Amino acid sequence: MSRQSCYAVAAALALSLAACGKPADTPTAAAPAAASAPAPAPAPAPVATGALYQVVDGKVDAATLAGWKAWRAAACERCHGPSQEGLVGPSLIESLKSLSRDEVRATVLTGRVEKGMPSHPFLADRIDGLYAYLKGRSDGAIPAGRLTGIE
Ligand code: HEC
Repeated sequence: MSRQSCYAVAAALALSLAACGKPADTPTAAAPAAASAPAPAPAPAPVATGALYQVVDGKVDAATLAGWKAWRAAACERCHGPSQEGLVGPSLIESLKSLSRDEVRATVLTGRVEKGMPSHPFLADRIDGLYAYLKGRSDGAIPAGRLTGIE
């Protein structure tokens, strides 16, 4: 290949790159319009941890706090340990990694009486908070022990 044709290729490349620049600009110019459509999304952003539970400086939202109180009131720790680590009952830190929300609900409310897990029908109104609490413990997001609520 001659030196001249080499330059020609380079020039053609430069031209095509320059040409590419323009169409690329056009979608960018349109982008702000597209971005302004989902703009309401940042609004619920302060709730950074998602819908299930919130943790701020080790403090939790009201429903999760109620879940922890339900855990204490029902004395689940007698069988699952004060930090959910397992005792005669299995570690709920581990169990909550694989059990679905419905499985936890059913197990807690109906129990598995023949296997030593009592039923807790009186927790029906707090089961979602209790699930959130246990899930947060299993995720490592909620500290063990006494909790306080986010003001
Ligand atoms: C008297 C002891 C006892 C108490 C009190 C108790 N559990 Fe259990 N729990 C068990 C046993 C034993 C099992 C395992 C049952 C089985 O083998 O399927 C179990 C199973 C579970 C499971 C399912 C775990 C899995 O991996 O399948 C969940 C969730 C659970 N318990 C939550 C709770 C919660 C929440 C409380 C308090 C409201 C509670 N338990 C109170 C003994 C207890």
